[in-house]
Amino acid sequence: MIIGEHLGVNEQGHLTIGGMDTVELVKNYGTPLYVMDETVIRNNCRLFKDAIGKYYGGNGLPLYASKTFCCKEICRVMKQEKMGLDVSSGGELMTAIEAGFPAGDIFFHGNNKTRDELLLAMEYGVGRIVVDNLSELERLEDICIAQNKTANIMLRIKPGVEAHTHEFIQTGQIDSKFGFALENGEADFAAKTVAKTGNINLCGVHCHIGSQIFDAEPFKLAAKIMFGFIERINKSYGFTISELNLGGGFGIKYTQQDNPPAYGDYIRQVSEILHTLCDEIALPMPKIYIEPGRSIAGPAGITLYTVGAVKEIKDVRNYILVDGGMNDNIRYALYKAPYTVLVANKANEPCTYPASIAGRCCESGDLIQENATLQNCKPGDIVVVLATGAYNYSMSMNYNRFPRPPVVFVNNGSARIVVKRESYMDLMKNDV
Ligand code: LLP
Repeated sequence: MIIGEHLGVNEQGHLTIGGMDTVELVKNYGTPLYVMDETVIRNNCRLFKDAIGKYYGGNGLPLYASKTFCCKEICRVMKQEKMGLDVSSGGELMTAIEAGFPAGDIFFHGNNKTRDELLLAMEYGVGRIVVDNLSELERLEDICIAQNKTANIMLRIKPGVEAHTHEFIQTGQIDSKFGFALENGEADFAAKTVAKTGNINLCGVHCHIGSQIFDAEPFKLAAKIMFGFIERINKSYGFTISELNLGGGFGIKYTQQDNPPAYGDYIRQVSEILHTLCDEIALPMPKIYIEPGRSIAGPAGITLYTVGAVKEIKDVRNYILVDGGMNDNIRYALYKAPYTVLVANKANEPCTYPASIAGRCCESGDLIQENATLQNCKPGDIVVVLATGAYNYSMSMNYNRFPRPPVVFVNNGSARIVVKRESYMDLMKNDV
């Protein structure tokens, strides 16, 4: 089953993306190959921007979570789309800066920012630093005092909301390494500490409850809890907090079974709750930030592989061996993440062949998908994995010294490289 309007099948029975024949893309760029439809990325940005416009009167900004897929070109696209950017490391920050992304629209995340990273953030003047813990706050204060600067911060709060997703990607509950918990008073204590801290300006509060969430309820609950927190610390410590960052986490369709809600609808539901709460206590609506990542880049991407061998192990299973693997998509190994897999050059044939798709790493767990059913497949065919635009390239690695694949953007019938294929020499560039 093909998922997404940007995908199609042409007369030759080849899968197309953004009007481009995937078999032609493979001829031009080789495999493994990441392909992303830029139009889908831009449309998703607009969808979030429009929803913020509609439900918050434009008093807000979606920040693209760059950990999802980060390179200079996507930062340029985000700049053109007038999005903000969430970065979670010095590397993501410097990529954005090098791409000419305006520092004032960058929010700096991370649960253990180093002094060097904080120095970079202050040097470039990022819009907000989202402080995760008290040691980080101390480090930041030291820098600000030494440089006679003021840092504009948000506090990262764990609202105590459990979202129904894989436990590795849940972050809102008390037992999480991210942020200050509400239940045990940590969050209130952090606010009290900030109130006494010089050179730090508390602009707002932040939460992110997890990723690949389909249900609007946990988002609504988190918004309500965060609003209550704002109200309380405004009263207790004399803040006038005017910003609320509700994080990302909106689920996408990886398989036919996935049924994510329309994102605009989720934003509407949360906005209704916040409007009601604001009216009750006559507080102006805070500026609302959201941080979608997967929902922007995920559906836009596919990964193409060449089949090198098919092993039919009688009464056990069939393995399709492709020229990539957990190096370029670790999500099955890590989360047993479901994906839709097809044979791109036979996309019009029925899916009747049961197989597991394995990579080339020296690791039995190097599987991209188990027990898939796809078109009949032989060496030389092209296997495609759908919806790989999020957390695939960004989590790729060089185990066994396999070079990382390139990333190609397609846009209305044209294609361009945005990340080059790594060479063997690239792999050795830091070796002495
Ligand atoms: N904001 C913060 C603070 C985050 O930590 C994240 C994701 C996001 C926004 C974006 O969330 P999204 O809209 O993409 O769900 N590697 C995992 C996902 C980890 C998510 C980490 N934080 C995966 O492959 O599923």
